[in-house]
Amino acid sequence: MKQSCEISSDIAHAATILKGGGLVAFATETVYGLGANALEAEAVAKIFEAKQRPHFDPLIVHIAEINWLEDLVTFVPEKARALMDHFWPGPLTVVLPKTDRVPDLVTSGLPSVAVRMPSHEQARDLIASAGVPIAAPSANRFGQLSPTEARHVQQQLGDRVDLILDGGPCRVGVESTVVRATDDSCQILRHGGVAQEEIEAIVGNVELADVSERPEAVASPGMLPQHYSPRTRLVILNDDITLPAKGLRVGELCFQEPTGHIASVKIERLSKDGNLREAAANLFAALWRLDTSDINLIVAHQFPNEGLGRAINDRLSRAAD
Ligand code: TXA
Ligand code: MG
Repeated sequence: MKQSCEISSDIAHAATILKGGGLVAFATETVYGLGANALEAEAVAKIFEAKQRPHFDPLIVHIAEINWLEDLVTFVPEKARALMDHFWPGPLTVVLPKTDRVPDLVTSGLPSVAVRMPSHEQARDLIASAGVPIAAPSANRFGQLSPTEARHVQQQLGDRVDLILDGGPCRVGVESTVVRATDDSCQILRHGGVAQEEIEAIVGNVELADVSERPEAVASPGMLPQHYSPRTRLVILNDDITLPAKGLRVGELCFQEPTGHIASVKIERLSKDGNLREAAANLFAALWRLDTSDINLIVAHQFPNEGLGRAINDRLSRAAD
């Protein structure tokens, strides 16, 4: 096994690795992805191995051009088309009926495939240069924090990928919103970089997927109750929580201001101005800093349940124990 891989900004080199069946971690506007040729099952298998990810968790396929869809999906329902027209390229993933070209390993045997066209310029250049759709989950080990900087990837997967393509910090900072749409309905499977309100403005009312099912049966395993976890214990501050016991070194993750009641030794403010987009962009890097500092409890505030606040609350509740 490699000690630690190269961090580079050489797109052509990264594309060559992907074409040869290798693994490249690359920046998107949401989080860093761990990419492989989506049409080659053997290359895709390396993703699962590197992440130690269970095979019932299907992958998102990233494309550079809209006409690449023809190879991947058999049909695009009306509402899905409207969402793609509006939000692509960008942080929206659409689940569609798959063609036979998409290996079952990519979709965990599901008859549908999740597709996204990222807006990050370097990511689009990489995918276009590779010339094949790229399957890529977030470039973290399974269940751990999602990476929003190249060095986060280096820490978790540096010895398991062929190259990390450095595209700087991720602008959106939380994963894409995953939707399943038909001609007349639309369901959000995972909250993310496109807010529910923005989706409703295009297609009307949306349903939210039921998360009370068994993990293997969950429509979208990003909905697994335990996910996106730091190593440090995390609790969410709400009305019925008793303040942490004395003697604990507490790090506080807040929106604009700390409570003032908690003797925190470290404070992370996600947006001084109360901007939820800015807060989302800072979320994982702030959790990362807390997780690597000398504390033994993270106390996270609850965020307003609107706009990108829904994705933030969702990730925090899955990180909490
Ligand atoms: O922003 C993102 O979406 C990032 C970047 C790299 O694009 N990727 C990402 O991938 O978050 P991942 O693997 O960590 O999350 C993919 C989510 C999971 O919740 C998975 O269950 C869901 O998409 N998904 C994938 N294929 C699906 C399918 N056929 N049906 C339902 N959900 C699916
Ligand atoms: Mg993930």
